[in-house]
Amino acid sequence: MDKLLIAPSTDPAKTVEDIIEFVDEIKNDADLLHCDIMDGKFVESKTFSYDVLKIIKEKTLLPLDVHLMIESPSKFIKKYFQSGANIITVHFEAYKDKKKLIKDLKKIRKLGALSGLSIKPKTAVEEILTYIVYCDIILIMSVEPGKSGQKFIEQTYSKVIELNKIKKDFNIKLKIEIDGGINPSVSKKLKEFGADILVSGSYVYNSKNRLLAINDLR
Ligand code: DX5
Ligand code: ZN
Repeated sequence: MDKLLIAPSTDPAKTVEDIIEFVDEIKNDADLLHCDIMDGKFVESKTFSYDVLKIIKEKTLLPLDVHLMIESPSKFIKKYFQSGANIITVHFEAYKDKKKLIKDLKKIRKLGALSGLSIKPKTAVEEILTYIVYCDIILIMSVEPGKSGQKFIEQTYSKVIELNKIKKDFNIKLKIEIDGGINPSVSKKLKEFGADILVSGSYVYNSKNRLLAINDLR
């Protein structure tokens, strides 16, 4: 099995300066930097946009895992790529027109980033089966998107098991990423069930020793 990747999230940091300081602290222990982009429409909260992503990119060599919790991802994919995204993840629920979703997933790959598709807790794995072929990563939300510090939703485990089975049955390279409420006891199970990437917001950010916290999740 490949190594489990840990992606600390920018979400708990409230300013660009805080994000940059955080990135500098974790740069040798984290595998990816998970950048939570919220537009105040798809979710209530608002974080930052591609202009800030560009600033972050200039300050770190960590690959940027960009989670777009925005209403109209199509319009902004290129901007996020040009600002330094290595992974671009869009939300299944943000697309009324699923043809557009396929077009966008293809576009992300064509630009040269890895394509990610995220599902909210109430969306079933079955709903996205048709689109898996266009994805490098499936991001399963284990809390309602919008803020860090929420409790992990236990039903996520069965989704991971289900997706991992599909991955094995069809022998596909897909990475399974989980986002929300992750702590060491949750991560232990997720790892066992086949998760490849774990996002951590509050657990890592609020720890006294953030480097130890990252390694506690492995
Ligand atoms: C939630 C974000 C997450 C969040 C995770 O909307 O997508 O990435 O930062 O934070 P924790 O780990 O605290 O749930
Ligand atoms: Zn996220």
